[in-house]
Amino acid sequence: MQVIVYLNGQYLPREKACISPEDRGFLFADAIYEVARFYRGRPYRLAEHVERMRDGLAAVRIAADPGFYPEVAGRLLEENGLAQSDAIIYAQISRGAAPRTHAFPAASVTPTIFAFARLSDPEPPPEGGSAILVPDERWGRCNIKTVMLLPNVLAAQKAREAGVTDAILTRDGIAWEGTKANLFCINGGIVRTAPNGPRILPGVTRGAALEAAGRLGLPVEERPFTIEELFASEEVFFASTTLWTYPIVEVDGKRIGDGKPGSTAQAIKQELQREFTA
Ligand code: PDD
Repeated sequence: MQVIVYLNGQYLPREKACISPEDRGFLFADAIYEVARFYRGRPYRLAEHVERMRDGLAAVRIAADPGFYPEVAGRLLEENGLAQSDAIIYAQISRGAAPRTHAFPAASVTPTIFAFARLSDPEPPPEGGSAILVPDERWGRCNIKTVMLLPNVLAAQKAREAGVTDAILTRDGIAWEGTKANLFCINGGIVRTAPNGPRILPGVTRGAALEAAGRLGLPVEERPFTIEELFASEEVFFASTTLWTYPIVEVDGKRIGDGKPGSTAQAIKQELQREFTA
């Protein structure tokens, strides 16, 4: 089946979608992106994704409105036969195409808006995943969802070459997050995750997982946790739009807890899925 994508107001076959080689998203990673999930056409917390995109655009001073998201998503799901599926909509806005200069081009340059739909990732293996610790080499504003993901790409590749599921990014002795997911641990029965701030992405799933933990009556603490605390945890798990929660049962070859997926991550995942499919 032909894949239909959205580009600057048009729905067109993927092969026909042309983006200038001078697009600043291509030349400078001068762009903001989002990934939102849809079940049978119904979005999961889409307003939060749109708000985060709005914040990101404002932070890097790209004058574009992410208000297109719900309508474009609905049409892309329809056009691609995904209206009854568990799917994701990726959307990205770059500052636009202009001759290469580092500082912003003239105000008349129109941002490039690109979006596509695809099925959600398949469920990962039920026995849980493994990770390696990798130094966090990202810039100082990780709360902005830019497409400038090379440090994430290199860390994810390092994980793949090590034969593990993903990397956990560390800096100053703190385990901050994954390459594409927020990081949680259960330590002494407390659900912990790093507080929002410049070192992590303010994940939509992270927020939903904290709310779910609250509903489940679990004690919750948003504070950075050290690598030592990570290894001393009963459970470690990632949280993201594409995973919900996913247990990490081994880090750097060492078992976390009893080396099996824990009940807390599972309970939170069920809460999130209930909200999604209700
Ligand atoms: N990544 N942290 C990072 C670095 C991420 O890239 C993501 C999402 C998250 C989780 O955020 P959310 O719960 O809002 O999906 C945390 C997306 C899925 C991606 O890059 O494909």
